[in-house]
Amino acid sequence: MYEIQTSTPRRNQLRNILVAAATLLFLIPSLRGQPVDSPHFANLLMPVPAALTVNQGELRLTPDFHVSIDGVSNPRLTGAAARMMAQLTAATGLVFSTSRPPAAADQQLIIRVQNPGQTIQTPDEDESYRMTVTSTTVTLEATTVVGAMHGLQTLLQLVQPEGKDYIIPAVTIADQPRFPWRGLMIDCGRHFEPIDVIKRTLDAMAAVKMNVFHWHLTEDQGFRMQSLRFPALTAKGSDGLFYTQQQAREIVAYAYDRGIRVVPEFEMPGHSTAWLVAYPALASGTAPAGIRREFGIAPYALDPTREETYQFITAFLTEMAQIFPDPYVHIGGDETLAPDWKTNPRITAFMRLHHLKDSDALQAYFNQRILKILTTLHRRMIGWDEILNPALPRDVIVQSWRGEASLVQGAKQGYQGVLSAPYYLDAMHSAAQHYLADPLPANVDLTAEQQRLILGGEVCMWGEQLNQRTIDSRIWPRTAAMAERLWSPQNVTNVDDMYRRLEAISVELESLGLHHLSQRDSDLRQLAGSEDIAALRIFASVLEPVSFSDRYQQQKTSQTTPLDRFVDAVPPDPSSGRTLQHLVDAFLQEPHNRPADRVALTEYFAQLTAAIPAVQQHMQTSPRLQDVQMRATQLADLATLGSQAVAFASSGTTPPAGWKPAALQTIHTARQPGGIVRFTILDQLTRLINAAQE
Ligand code: ACM
Repeated sequence: MYEIQTSTPRRNQLRNILVAAATLLFLIPSLRGQPVDSPHFANLLMPVPAALTVNQGELRLTPDFHVSIDGVSNPRLTGAAARMMAQLTAATGLVFSTSRPPAAADQQLIIRVQNPGQTIQTPDEDESYRMTVTSTTVTLEATTVVGAMHGLQTLLQLVQPEGKDYIIPAVTIADQPRFPWRGLMIDCGRHFEPIDVIKRTLDAMAAVKMNVFHWHLTEDQGFRMQSLRFPALTAKGSDGLFYTQQQAREIVAYAYDRGIRVVPEFEMPGHSTAWLVAYPALASGTAPAGIRREFGIAPYALDPTREETYQFITAFLTEMAQIFPDPYVHIGGDETLAPDWKTNPRITAFMRLHHLKDSDALQAYFNQRILKILTTLHRRMIGWDEILNPALPRDVIVQSWRGEASLVQGAKQGYQGVLSAPYYLDAMHSAAQHYLADPLPANVDLTAEQQRLILGGEVCMWGEQLNQRTIDSRIWPRTAAMAERLWSPQNVTNVDDMYRRLEAISVELESLGLHHLSQRDSDLRQLAGSEDIAALRIFASVLEPVSFSDRYQQQKTSQTTPLDRFVDAVPPDPSSGRTLQHLVDAFLQEPHNRPADRVALTEYFAQLTAAIPAVQQHMQTSPRLQDVQMRATQLADLATLGSQAVAFASSGTTPPAGWKPAALQTIHTARQPGGIVRFTILDQLTRLINAAQE
């Protein structure tokens, strides 16, 4: 369990008493497993470590701070240590001395690693580490280099300003992950993501201790991995947007250097239009005329009944095994509609001959054949939950995307599982919603042995409505909250505290080169054709993208749809909803008697009102802002309502007859689809309106 203790000097009685009182304060939340602050420790760690003790004092950083490796060393470790020191310089402005050999008395980080760890990282890797900080020394101990790398990330998050200095608080940490599989899937098939995007995403994953990059490389809309054996796959199936083998190897090495496995996904037998554009003879009957531009489920599938299909896949996967050393290969397997399997006489005859009663049985037959190929290549299989079928042996992993039920069902049948259903970023849920979804909730109906089959979870970033401009703000910072869910103890569930730390990690991630914060203003400038976006920024602050499916209903996106609208500029789950909630919470405690909170709320609505004329001005001269014009009109009404509601509630004045129903109608109207964005403030406004006396 997460615990916290404060060691106290014996000499000073008064101080002892004060510290004891403070300890008690810290201890109470710590019993709930929540991170806490001490005078020398603003806890901004994300993920929260398994066990943390705050001690007296701190290490006050000077240019003498240096790294001593006192145990196993290799380029993976020295590279990580050098990156950590560079980030430390970026965070503190301190330039660390390299010109003279460090003296024994200097402050230092001692890294003591017992063994290099697995040559090919697997889910069994020991990722634990222990760290102790005193006024002169940080001691980081780990069984493997991967554990030490996680500790280096924790160290960076411990650094904080104090007066004119930067300090590392004196702490003792013993940390290890709750789950061994903490992944992020990126769909590079529907929209290609350049190599630099992948690299900075890996940097961000490492910062929050994620360890699996699931690389979705093939889709109906594009085949993104170069094959030298079958060059037509990218020549005909990629629009020239693909990763060379050299680039893929570079990504595998880059990820390995950060303790991250790369699990490649080659979708089969469905979602395979791009394979079949290049090799139509592999199709189940009908072959596609070209790369699919629209989204949804395509009717094409690889033919599971022909030996040529398996020969092709054997050759292809053999080539891929040279590039991707991970023990797992993801075969997709989801959404195989395959109408040809019901109508093609050759296929139906094959099914009768092999006693395969339906399409599911045929797909299970296909999967068994693919599993044999993978086994020969010393690889294990992972697939989406459609692969769950008693015909498959128990050593495949089921990735649950259609609901938690398949995860539990799989575990009961003895299959290992990875949860993704509640972690779809394009659902545009809040970080809080994602955060509270647990792969193993306390009330899960599984035995201890079955629970061990749940390996963890994967955040999914699907690519339909994504491009290289928008990807960072769709993934970050929300993914950091899910990274914590998969690493930290189960009882770390305080949402307010998560958001407090998420804001800090968000800024840390930007220092790694991510654009999730800066992109919005850049996009607003492009939309407005102006540097002066002060008013637009206020308008944008209360709007967020609608979910993937809501957007699809409002705008039938395809691969060729430019993703350059207002919706693409605004990030999901902005702070505006939470800011207003805190203001309203405080005010509603005692509306007649909270002048400061009344003023804060009144000013909040006044700044929204004041922004509207300039926003409408921009809209008149920017065709790309036309679709959110109605949101500006609505916001003017909402802000007026907010001011009125605060005035009524604080003065105890009864609103005129009809005001409240009209106000609630305005909220209702503002909830309707429009501009592919939604307001973040409607629930809080409703509370204020309801607080006005009848
Ligand atoms: C999926 O979302 N079709 C795995």
